[in-house]
Amino acid sequence: MINKDTKQKLSGLTVLLHWVVGLVIITLAVIGVYMSENEVFALYPIHKSIGVLIFAVIVIRVYWRFVNGWLQPAANYTKIEYNLSKIVHWVLIVATIVMPISGFIMSGAGGYGVSVFGLEIVAANFDPVAKKAIAHNAAFASFMGSTHVNAGWIMIVAIFLHLAGAIKHHFIDKDSTLKRMLGKKI
Ligand code: HEM
Ligand code: HEM
Repeated sequence: MINKDTKQKLSGLTVLLHWVVGLVIITLAVIGVYMSENEVFALYPIHKSIGVLIFAVIVIRVYWRFVNGWLQPAANYTKIEYNLSKIVHWVLIVATIVMPISGFIMSGAGGYGVSVFGLEIVAANFDPVAKKAIAHNAAFASFMGSTHVNAGWIMIVAIFLHLAGAIKHHFIDKDSTLKRMLGKKI
């Protein structure tokens, strides 16, 4: 039986899912911005493959979070701090769902196809003469493309706020917020 989160100790599953999804998302955000800013097309299939695979873990993470409810604060936060952390946690959890879905639809509907390390999931629709992808639904693909980029930047800002909060709690307030997310009993 898997333990649920308590104020004193988080479930091992909460800790595992937080760090696996968190670190993979940061990696995908770095690869995503780098590859699109510099047009490094060799990185696209890697970004897409990891993005599709992590979605399976994200679904478990989000299900587990709602079965458990949100965490109780590890220390006494001010009301503003508490509300800000709630907003940031919501932005992060929603972004983890929106990012893989929008990416998948942008590539699929855009005719570029989606493969997971070579295993084809949605076939590409390339015009061999013009040597470019023919969209199945250009408007939908473009809407999902801007969603992916805009939600991506909102998520990146939220990650910085989240990181700043974790650092503040650990080094300035010297409370147990970070230690608890590292699996320690407080
Ligand atoms: C949790 C999963 C994901 C995260 C966090 C993520 C994050 C990002 C970010 C931050 C960018 C850069 C946006 C920009 O500034 O231009 C990007 C670009 C991109 N992502 Fe994702 N992504 C994820 C999943 C996916 C998936 C599943 C696919 C497709 C199957 C995908 C396809 C793409 C493509 C094609 C681009 C380049 C867009 C362009 O060149 O304009 N992503 N991603
Ligand atoms: C190195 C970077 C990170 C650090 C140091 C960190 C640290 C933490 C800490 C200490 C908590 C507990 C907060 C509390 O007790 O109120 C937490 C919760 C949370 N973190 Fe992170 N985090 C990081 C990256 C991420 C990323 C990239 C995401 C998602 C994209 C994320 C999503 C969340 C969410 C949604 C919660 C709420 C609790 C839960 O759902 O498990 N974190 N994080």
